[in-house]
Amino acid sequence: MGKLDGKVAVITGAASGMGRATAIRFAREGARVVLTDLNSHGGEEAVAQCAATGAKAVFQRTDVTSEADIKAAVDRAVREFGRLDIMFNNAGIAGALGPIDKVKAEDWDRSMAVLLRAVFLGMKYSIPELRKAGGGSIITTASVAGLRGVGFLAPYSAAKGAIITLTQAVAIEVGRDRIRVNCICPGGVNTPLVHRGTPGGEQAAEERMAKMQPIPRAGHPEDIANMALFLASDDSEWITGTAMVVDGGINTGNARFRLSGLPDAGFSGPSFER
Ligand SMILES: NC(=O)c1ccc[n+]([C@@H]2O[C@H](COP(=O)([O-])OP(=O)(O)OC[C@H]3O[C@@H](n4cnc5c(N)ncnc54)[C@H](O)[C@@H]3O)[C@@H](O)[C@H]2O)c1
Repeated sequence: MGKLDGKVAVITGAASGMGRATAIRFAREGARVVLTDLNSHGGEEAVAQCAATGAKAVFQRTDVTSEADIKAAVDRAVREFGRLDIMFNNAGIAGALGPIDKVKAEDWDRSMAVLLRAVFLGMKYSIPELRKAGGGSIITTASVAGLRGVGFLAPYSAAKGAIITLTQAVAIEVGRDRIRVNCICPGGVNTPLVHRGTPGGEQAAEERMAKMQPIPRAGHPEDIANMALFLASDDSEWITGTAMVVDGGINTGNARFRLSGLPDAGFSGPSFER
């Protein structure tokens, strides 16, 4: 028996990375899945991977900045599979990069449209269907960059931080409808968003990212899919409004920072004693 038997999910950004890994994980656990993305080729590939598990899955081309597209994705789930139980707002981009005084206003707006407005729309259009189903789970991919500021990535950091409080606020609103609202804060996960599909880029990112956090390996999309499955399933039925950190420990602090001049072991007392 699968953990998501009988459930129907919509996943945005499902053509690649965490969204694709989660679609496959959900399918293996018995869910029927509507995979959505801008990238039709990757989306159809991911549908085939889901279908290979024996699950039902369809692709719906969706631009998450379009209100009509998000509504259509939710409608597709209901038309195709009769209900909606899980909405995973996951699509994302790095968006506007560089020092804040150099960020163009239109790039700020584009970042917010993909990273934040799309999450609002995903919640807005899924909630009525989740209510009809008697409850459900809304999951959003935030980031550790939403827990602490990341310089030169300020628009991204701001949008991800806003997702965390949006999650809390909406969890309060819909708890009595048995709808749970949570987000996931991944650390460094080796996906095309990071390595951009450049030759050797994935391996180089794997090595670079292994050094970033206490657990000495890069995050992988399946690490996030495992948390998404937990939040989608009844295993988390008393959990709402949370930001689940899945980051190999990077949010503990600066894993590479070590005070210089101190011995490697022993005890260091008052400095005047030397
Ligand atoms: N990779 C990381 O280190 C990391 C860390 C923290 C959070 N995140 C977040 O994780 C989520 C998934 O990213 P990923 O790392 O799997 O990247 P990815 O690039 O592999 O996947 C993101 C997907 O979103 C899709 N997408 C982008 N803009 C879209 C739009 N306007 N409409 C529809 N689809 C669109 C892309 O086509 C892509 O398939 C994002 O929200 C990202 O911000 C990533």
